[in-house]
Amino acid sequence: MPNTHSPAWQALAEHCEVVRHYHLRDWFARDSQRFSGLSFELEGVLVDFSKQRIDRRGLALLLDLAKSADLAGWRERMFAGERINFSENRAVLHSALRFLKTGSFPSGETDVMPDVRQVRAKMRLFSDQVRAGLWRGFSGEAIRDVVNIGIGGSDLGPKMVVRSLSAYQRAGMRVHFVSNVDSAHMAKLFEMLDPRTTLFVVASKTFSTQETMLNAHTARKWLCAAAGEDCARALPLHFVAVTSDLARAAAFGLPEANVFDIWDWVGGRYSLWSAVGLPIALAIGMNGFERLLAGAQAMDTHFREVPFEKNLPVLMALIGIWNTNFLGAATSAVLPYHESLRFLPSFLQQLEMESNGKTVGRDGQALSCQANPIVWGEIGSNGQHAFFQLLHQGGWLVPSDFIASAQSDFPLPGHQAPLMANFLAQSAALAFGKTEQEARAELEAAKVPPEQIDSLLPHKVFAGNQPSTTIILPRLDPYHLGMLLALYEHKVFVQGVIWGINSFDQWGVELGKQLAGRLLPALKGETDTEGLDQSTKALIDWCREYGDF
Ligand code: F6P
Repeated sequence: MPNTHSPAWQALAEHCEVVRHYHLRDWFARDSQRFSGLSFELEGVLVDFSKQRIDRRGLALLLDLAKSADLAGWRERMFAGERINFSENRAVLHSALRFLKTGSFPSGETDVMPDVRQVRAKMRLFSDQVRAGLWRGFSGEAIRDVVNIGIGGSDLGPKMVVRSLSAYQRAGMRVHFVSNVDSAHMAKLFEMLDPRTTLFVVASKTFSTQETMLNAHTARKWLCAAAGEDCARALPLHFVAVTSDLARAAAFGLPEANVFDIWDWVGGRYSLWSAVGLPIALAIGMNGFERLLAGAQAMDTHFREVPFEKNLPVLMALIGIWNTNFLGAATSAVLPYHESLRFLPSFLQQLEMESNGKTVGRDGQALSCQANPIVWGEIGSNGQHAFFQLLHQGGWLVPSDFIASAQSDFPLPGHQAPLMANFLAQSAALAFGKTEQEARAELEAAKVPPEQIDSLLPHKVFAGNQPSTTIILPRLDPYHLGMLLALYEHKVFVQGVIWGINSFDQWGVELGKQLAGRLLPALKGETDTEGLDQSTKALIDWCREYGDF
């Protein structure tokens, strides 16, 4: 667990007492080099930390904290394939999935690259065939719709990437994502699909997740209803699986040829780089998918090799820790000013909160500080006209990440400049606010009568000092998206190391699953509700009276 009594932590706490009430206005006024000192560029990606409430001394102390947590050692342990996910006895090797060089990764006997390369080759063959119209369904027609059935990491990553890169998608091939066990998700899709030209990708590392398996069985019935006597022949033409459980896929009716392997050293929320990314390859082609991998690999190399002082994931993580543990921010917002990035906030919610949403350290002891903040977010343009009021005047400290690309992926004349003007205006307004003096001057200039000025004035003041990081990609292409996502992954890793957390297990999702298993037969009336708490019991009775199970 983090040693909050360590000299490094204590020095930060003391420094925070000194600077906590400083305003970003003053920091910028005092330091004409603030932007150049606190912004970094990597392969065209600009990351500006200057609107964070941190100064150079604070940053130096944070870097001491990273060193005292043996960040360099943990980083090497991860890249060396040590079983740092100790509670599941697993290595953490998602970086191997984007290792495009020759040679082994990690070195020695634990080299996973032969398996990784074999699956990549299988993905290429399959996605090329489907995209070229050579993979035929039971009626001999080419595939026009791909439906990914998965949930959590087997849905959020590939969905976010496919939607982010829709500008790179070939016309004529639609890719859909079904995750919800609510039949409204699948049923509405069936209305627009033709079973003869639909391919299902069942993505589940365990091949046992309730939502995914129920949806997969429903899809199989739908296919078989159309294929009739041809059902057995149709199944392998319309279904493939991405899983580490070959036996379960076989029990579902899929031969090994239809199964794309993943391994226990790939966590679900880190799996989009594996065969879980098959829908990405189907959407943009395997070359595009490998550009995504290449961007992530560039960030891996940066994270591994660049000194902490200039290391983007390290700096991003440390500033997050400053905001959470020293300034006391309970949440953090992700605000993409990019329509294609609309699923990025939900992807990052899983990445961050499933990894570090914990109160127990690696040593089994309760953490002595709060770990991951609540992550939330929305397309920035839409948020401006909804919840930004609270960010500006609600009195909560909400650090945010503003993300945009300099170029539009679907350019229409006259749109990109207003988009970027708003993007830049909001982080500036949040940082610098508007003083009473400035507000008064504006009201006077607008010739508002003096008696009204006094009553309006409190409403027109913006406290500012709301911290943010600005990230600008040159364009939202596979390579730079890969860089962006790996940046966040490594940020999460660094924070986990400093908080002393195992970021790669997720025991907290189990209790609800267990309970749902117990409640299902009660809801269906197969068992009674004895032993349940009175609220759940009464709610089951209510559902049974009004529902149809
Ligand atoms: O329940 C949480 C979880 O295990 C996630 O960690 C994972 O991404 C998701 O469920 C899906 O798991 P699977 O790929 O095994 O279906």
